[in-house]
Amino acid sequence: MPPPVKLNGTSTQLRAKQELSAYRSKDKAISVVGLGYVGLPLALELAKKFRVIGFDISASRIDMMRSGHDPSGELEPDSFNDKDITFTADAADLAGASFHIVAVPTPVDESRTPNLKPLLGASHSVGKSLQAGDIVVFESTVYPGCTEEDCVPILEAESGLTYGQDFTVGYSPERINPGDREHTVDKILKIVSGSDRETLEIVSGIYGDIITAGIYEAASIKVAEAAKVIENSQRDVNISFVNELSIIFRQMGIDTQDVLEAAGTKWNFLPFRPGLVGGHCISVDPYYLLHKSIKLGYDPLVIASGRRINDRMPAFIAKELVQALLKADKNPKRSKVLVLGVTFKENVADIRNSKVVDVVRELMDFGVNVQLYDPHASPNEIAHEYGLTMVEAIGTGYDAIVVAVAHQEFKSFTLAKFRSISRDTLLLFDLKGIYDRKALQPDEVIWRL
Ligand SMILES: NC(=O)c1ccc[n+]([C@@H]2O[C@H](COP(=O)([O-])OP(=O)(O)OC[C@H]3O[C@@H](n4cnc5c(N)ncnc54)[C@H](O)[C@@H]3O)[C@@H](O)[C@H]2O)c1
Repeated sequence: MPPPVKLNGTSTQLRAKQELSAYRSKDKAISVVGLGYVGLPLALELAKKFRVIGFDISASRIDMMRSGHDPSGELEPDSFNDKDITFTADAADLAGASFHIVAVPTPVDESRTPNLKPLLGASHSVGKSLQAGDIVVFESTVYPGCTEEDCVPILEAESGLTYGQDFTVGYSPERINPGDREHTVDKILKIVSGSDRETLEIVSGIYGDIITAGIYEAASIKVAEAAKVIENSQRDVNISFVNELSIIFRQMGIDTQDVLEAAGTKWNFLPFRPGLVGGHCISVDPYYLLHKSIKLGYDPLVIASGRRINDRMPAFIAKELVQALLKADKNPKRSKVLVLGVTFKENVADIRNSKVVDVVRELMDFGVNVQLYDPHASPNEIAHEYGLTMVEAIGTGYDAIVVAVAHQEFKSFTLAKFRSISRDTLLLFDLKGIYDRKALQPDEVIWRL
C-alpha cells in the first residue's frame, strides 16, 4: 500500500515525480468514472499512455464500448484500437486504480435545481474503493465548492480515510464542444487544480501527457470550478442579450442580423447571434451558479434574467409563426408545418434539453399539425424522451417550414427546394439565419431572429 500523502514537505516535487513515473510505467492505473460525451474520449486519450479502467453504471453502454462502439455516437470505431483500457460496469474494479477521474452528468431537475445524484453516486462508488495515497479528480461541471463540500465528505465516509491526510482531490473542468471534430479533448487548454501542491503537480503531469494544448494551474479547486461554470454562464447571458434585441427590433421592424452585422464592424463588438439555447451545458450550468449564490444569500439578477429570456424564446417563435400563418390567411389548426432539426445543436445526435421540442409543443398547443424531421436524431430517443414521432422523410404541402438546426444537410437546401415542398407561397422560419433573403420573390417570407 502506498504511503499516505502529506500536505507539506520539502520533497513535494520528488514525490510527485515518483508518483507520475508509477503511472507512466503502468505500475499504477487511472480510472475514469462515467463514460459519456466527456468521459469516453478522455479515457481513450489517457489509454494511449496509461493503464486505464473505464467504469460506467450502464452495463449496456459498457457492452457497446467493449465491442468498439461509442454509445454517444461521437467517436469512430478505430478510436478504440491499441488502447490500454478495461471497460467495466462493476464498481469494485475501481480498486485497481489510484487516480480516479469522475465525469458523470450534472443535470438540473424539473424545478431547475442541481441534480447531484449521479455525482454523489459516483463519489460513493469511488469512496468504496479508495485507498491511502489515492487522488480523485472531478471533471463534471458544478458550482464552486461542490467538490470539497459535497463530494469529499462521501469519499471520507465510504473509505474511512481522512481528506488531505490519506487522500487528496483535484478539479479539472471539461471544455469539449460536442460535434466539433477539430477541438478534440487533447487540443483544448486544460484547467487543473489540486487540494495541495503535490496533487496539483501529479494532476498537471497526467493531463500534461495527453493534452497538447497546454495546462493552466488554477489558484484553487473553487477557482477552477467557478471558471468552468462562468464560461457557459457568460455565453448564456450574451446570447440572451441578442435574443432580447431580436424581440425589441421585431417591434421596430428592424432585422436583428442586419443590425448585428453593422455593429460588428466595430473592433470590440462581440459577435453573438440570437437563437435557441438548449443542450446540457449552456442552458444548465447557470442554474448551478444561481443555486449556490441564492444559498449564500445573493439572488443574482443578470444570470437569472438571461435564463428567463432564453427559456422564453420557443414560445416567442411559436407565437410569431402562428401570427405569420394568420397573416397569410391560414388557419393554424388546418396548417401543416415542417420543423427541420431537433438536436440541441448542428451535426450532433444529442437531443438532451432540446428547445426545438418546446417550439414544437407550443405550435401543437395552437393546434398546428407539426411534422418533425432530423436525420441526426434517433426516432426512438425522441419518442422515448419527448413522446414525439418524427417523420422518416420530408413530405410536401407545407404551410410553413421551420429550419431550427443548422445541420449540414439543411444548409445545402435551396429556396427552390423549400418552394417545391410548400403548399402555397413560401413561409420559411430560418432560426439560424442560413438562407439568403435577397433571392426572395414577392409575397415570400423568410422570418429570422
Ligand atoms: N457533453 C459535453 O459537451 C460537456 C462539455 C463540457 C462539460 N461537460 C460536463 O461533463 C459532465 C459529463 O457530461 P456528459 O455529457 O459526458 O454526460 P453523459 O450523459 O454523456 O455521460 C455520462 C455517463 O455517466 C454514466 N453515469 C451516470 N451516473 C454514473 C455513476 N454514478 N457512476 C458511473 N457512471 C455514471 C452514464 O451512464 C453515462 O454513460 C457533466 O457535468 C457536463 O456538464 C459536458
